[in-house]
Amino acid sequence: MAQILVCYGTSEGQTEKIAERIGDRLSERGHRAPVRNVDESDPDPGGYDAVLIGSSIHMGGHQSPVETFITENLEVLGALPTGFFQVSLSAASDDPGERAEAANYVEDFEESTGFHPDRVGLFGGALRYSKYGFLKRLLMKQIAKRSSGDTDTSRDYEYTDWGEVDAFAADFAAFVEGRLGERSPGEE
Ligand SMILES: Cc1cc2nc3c(=O)[nH]c(=O)nc-3n(C[C@H](O)[C@H](O)[C@H](O)COP(=O)(O)O)c2cc1C
Repeated sequence: MAQILVCYGTSEGQTEKIAERIGDRLSERGHRAPVRNVDESDPDPGGYDAVLIGSSIHMGGHQSPVETFITENLEVLGALPTGFFQVSLSAASDDPGERAEAANYVEDFEESTGFHPDRVGLFGGALRYSKYGFLKRLLMKQIAKRSSGDTDTSRDYEYTDWGEVDAFAADFAAFVEGRLGERSPGEE
């Protein structure tokens, strides 16, 4: 059994929902996988065998508490198996240019933070009109008009492919299990 920290930053809760799902999948495989909001709990990655970090994209940028967490723990993270998952509308788009943008966000993030995760997942997010204030609702309606076309603000929309999330969790778990299996006896 591995100790895997799953931590995330979120604005409207979709990244939290995905992090919880990944935590459940890892637990089902027999691992201990606490799920923590980096903005609320300032987790210490030092005591874990592996770390998985999630962030949503807002206005082209990642969650600043996630950036802070990574910057403050860069050395520890560099020595552990790590994964990163990003939640955005671009990742769910039919337009290859938009999907490439989602990949570019990760590339820029790796460059600016110096964090180079072993595994990366790009997931579609959600439009939570019910949680937005007046201005944000207007802004997101304009953005949606150009992308998904889902502009009915009386309801929410979810674009996350849960099968992809489960596959990512399984792949990360297998990767961590492989890495731990490579440890020589006495390193435990
Ligand atoms: C104000 C705002 C700005 C956003 N900007 C972007 C963006 O620049 N690119 C993108 O792909 N998605 C963008 N999104 C979509 C979010 O990434 C998506 O809603 C995601 O599910 C948010 O996850 P969270 O609830 O964990 O914060 C934006 C959403 C909001 C509300």
